[in-house]
Amino acid sequence: MDKLRVLITHRQIAAKVAEMGASITADFAGEPVVLIGVLKGATIFLADLARHIQLDVSFDFIAVSSYGNAKQHSGVVRLVKDVDQSLEGRNVILVEDLLDTGLTLVYIKNLLQAHQPKSFKIAALLDKVSRRSEPIHADYVGFVIPDEFVVGYGLDFAGRYRNLPDVCVLESDSDRA
Ligand code: IMP
Ligand code: MG
Repeated sequence: MDKLRVLITHRQIAAKVAEMGASITADFAGEPVVLIGVLKGATIFLADLARHIQLDVSFDFIAVSSYGNAKQHSGVVRLVKDVDQSLEGRNVILVEDLLDTGLTLVYIKNLLQAHQPKSFKIAALLDKVSRRSEPIHADYVGFVIPDEFVVGYGLDFAGRYRNLPDVCVLESDSDRA
């Protein structure tokens, strides 16, 4: 049986995402930006963040596979879906649900930087700073969280719980990470 404990409420998330959108709006000073969402976890965050950015915004999506159904990173990142358009000369903001070891974002960053964008920034809703093994940081961070497995607001465990409005710690009796 899975037990869920609320870590960050939907109200806290909404306030923070509005702040992040205002920062992005200010930083890009009227220039267009393209948000690249990492499927599937970042979709809900991207949808909310985009509506707080007062700029010319377009979307694209990328999908990678690394976790399978386990709670631990496999160490292998595989591209499942690339972006649809060239990002050359554009202001790219990579939108990710959670930055953990950094393996996923280092892989995606290298892939996207090969397009030679005008600028490249990372927005992560959640950051498990203590888990980082790669030299990467997000330019816009929602919340720094402890090393616990979380679900909700787009984040899943084996495909479940993405629709929870709050970010919750998943406490299971078995299969502890
Ligand atoms: P990293 O490559 O180790 O930084 O892992 C980042 C990816 O793992 C993110 O895209 C998340 O989707 C996933 N991930 C890491 N921690 C969690 C968690 O606590 N809950 C759900 N997904 C997670
Ligand atoms: Mg993910």
